[in-house]
Amino acid sequence: MIKVSGISKSYNNDSVKAVDDLTFTIEDGEIVGIIGPNGSGKTTTIKMMTGIIKPDSGSVKIGDYDMVKDALKAKHNIGYMPDSPDMFLRLKGIEYINFVADIYDTDKAERDERIIKYSKLFGIDDVLDSKMISYSHGMRQKLMVVAALVHNPSVWILDEPLTGLDPESAFELKKLMKEHAAAGNSVMFSTHVLEVAEKLCDRVIIILKGKKLFDGTLEELKADNPDKQLEEIFLEMTGYLGESE
Ligand SMILES: Nc1ncnc2c1ncn2[C@@H]1O[C@H](COP(=O)(O)OP(=O)(O)OP(=O)(O)O)[C@@H](O)[C@H]1O
Ligand SMILES: [Mg+2]
Repeated sequence: MIKVSGISKSYNNDSVKAVDDLTFTIEDGEIVGIIGPNGSGKTTTIKMMTGIIKPDSGSVKIGDYDMVKDALKAKHNIGYMPDSPDMFLRLKGIEYINFVADIYDTDKAERDERIIKYSKLFGIDDVLDSKMISYSHGMRQKLMVVAALVHNPSVWILDEPLTGLDPESAFELKKLMKEHAAAGNSVMFSTHVLEVAEKLCDRVIIILKGKKLFDGTLEELKADNPDKQLEEIFLEMTGYLGESE
């Protein structure tokens, strides 16, 4: 379970309030999408959930562990995929994955089994011995997926995991996300793609300017806005379309 309680974060000496008193819970067995326009605070929220940045106020709990007070234990249970895969590019793919697995103290035989399984699934098993600088964007993205899962984390927190993946790999990742949640784990991901959220999520959290606008199922959202397409509802909520348009 993930419990986010009243987190806020400002940048540039408080001139930008990126996240503003956000509260939500993701239960075991749930896939939840966080949706919002560019700059609405999704990545900042995810970085606070994963302990990369500290909230100015509020708290995050992963299972029983507080992300600030019990950071190592909280982080141990998380598989995190960043929004940009352009890092450690001088390392070979296999070196990066092993580096992550070492940090998490993952058993050698178990990690090797997972590396083979996931890199084959995403079609990057033949490039693991090449430096990541030679990878395409999508290949780097796939490597981030493998690295995020190599320690078999229970909680998955993925920042725009499907952006840039080819349809085959997107299909496989969505399947893994569903299976992982069905096995009783929590999966949280950000997306701009409403159709993805509609197919994948048990629940969506819509944010704008760091504030929560909606938290519920897409069925509930549609029932509140009869005769409207999801895109129209979303654009109205975020203020892009006026109510009368
Ligand atoms: N390191 C930073 N320094 C200053 N401002 C930042 C920083 N990171 C984010 N911001 C600001 O915080 C706000 C939220 O940004 P964030 O990256 O969380 O949005 P997002 O919803 O992930 O956007 P996108 O859909 O483009 O990924 C934006 O106004 C952004 O300019
Ligand atoms: Mg982002």
